[in-house]
Amino acid sequence: MASEKKNDSNFVRGRFSKDISALTAKFTSSLDVDKNLAVYDILGSIAHVRELKDAGLISEKEKKELEGNLQKIKKEIETGVFKFEEKYEDIHINIEKRLIELLPSSGPKLHTGRSRNDQVSVDFRLYVKGEIKKISALVLDLVSTLSSLGEDNINTFMPGYTHLQHAQPVSLAHYFLAYCEMFKRDFKRLHGAYDEADVLTLGSGALAGVDFKIDRGREAKTLGFKHVSENSIDSVSDRDFAIQFQFSLSMIMLHLSRFCEELIMWNTKEFSFVELSDEFTTGSSIMPQKKNPDALELIRGRSGGVMSGMVSLLIMMKSLPLAYNRDMQEDKKPVIESSVTVADSLKIFREIIIGAKFNYKNMASGLKDDFIYATDISSYLVNRGVPFRRSHEIVGKLVNYASRNNKGLSRIPLSEYKKLAPEFEPDLFEIFNPRTSVDSKKTYGSTATARIKSAIRKNEKEIKEYRKTLKGF
Ligand code: ARG
Repeated sequence: MASEKKNDSNFVRGRFSKDISALTAKFTSSLDVDKNLAVYDILGSIAHVRELKDAGLISEKEKKELEGNLQKIKKEIETGVFKFEEKYEDIHINIEKRLIELLPSSGPKLHTGRSRNDQVSVDFRLYVKGEIKKISALVLDLVSTLSSLGEDNINTFMPGYTHLQHAQPVSLAHYFLAYCEMFKRDFKRLHGAYDEADVLTLGSGALAGVDFKIDRGREAKTLGFKHVSENSIDSVSDRDFAIQFQFSLSMIMLHLSRFCEELIMWNTKEFSFVELSDEFTTGSSIMPQKKNPDALELIRGRSGGVMSGMVSLLIMMKSLPLAYNRDMQEDKKPVIESSVTVADSLKIFREIIIGAKFNYKNMASGLKDDFIYATDISSYLVNRGVPFRRSHEIVGKLVNYASRNNKGLSRIPLSEYKKLAPEFEPDLFEIFNPRTSVDSKKTYGSTATARIKSAIRKNEKEIKEYRKTLKGF
């Protein structure tokens, strides 16, 4: 049978009489992105070769040479000598073409009992698992940095805010520990995403399963998967694991972005709570005095890209009929780009926070405006039997009186206090002290010094446990 085709660029054109147009080839290619899966593609192929041998589809000799040459290609990729060919539409075909070039007789047997639909799924799952490990370790590093910054700042007091208005005194440690909680939740979310990705989908074929006896349980072990997928149609259609990972990445960026915003604000002249190290700030091309927090701004800015990646994935998947559709090729770009962004952001953010100089004096002087103790005065009255709504009103009147007379609450004489409530006694003035304020908090999880100390101990224990969990990932 004569063929008119000049260049069968992706093996799969037996039924066609013309080669794919250059424009279509370029348009459909995913090589630029799925290059990143190369090493995982080879691992998947090596595991597959073992199954082909045990299913009696290749000989021991062929198994050995296929394995050996796949390893050789892996080296070529790792050392940068592998020639990625644009004309082969994706990484799978690139590697297979090279294998066939090296092994013209056994190479063409590799794709027996496999479809690119299950192949790309397993590659992507392996990639996601690898990235989750890396990012989880970075998250834990940040948690432990924040926990030790907390330890150093148990006695640093500052105004706590709600609606960006002075609310109540808190310790800076409590602030750091708040972010610790967020990043610990991120770790747990990543762990959940890992479990979701930890499912072998190879052996599902195009959608219906495979005609040869492939032991999927053993294949899962070879590739380090905990579970084997239950349904071949679902296996090649499912991108929940990618969405879950992308969601975990989005949440990390959301938390980092809030922290960045906070530091950007604290770094302004108006706040002056923190000074960022020169290493992480840039100058202005026109204003010589400027020291801009660009790295923090870029983390905040890039969070948008990561979050939009999640929306893209959801929208891409929402109307797809089962099973594989080519739309799904678009899943890798947001995930791969976001994973790089998140890893870089976590690394640089940790260095920024380690290098930041907190200005304890300015934080403390934020507490000089003693309206911040108003809630404590209200609690003082409640502890002396005044109903809360009444005490709230009394203190409101005091605040009104103080602002009209341009005085702080601590400078109103006791006689004036007593006019509003006879329950006020001289010990009232002990309230105007940040330590008294934080230590008057009685609840679990509060900013009270003793609570913070035990939160830090708990954190340390959890970090140790999480590190163990990570080893078992
Ligand atoms: N490049 C494709 C992707 O990433 C590989 C799977 C192609 N499968 C197919 N039936 N065309 O999704």
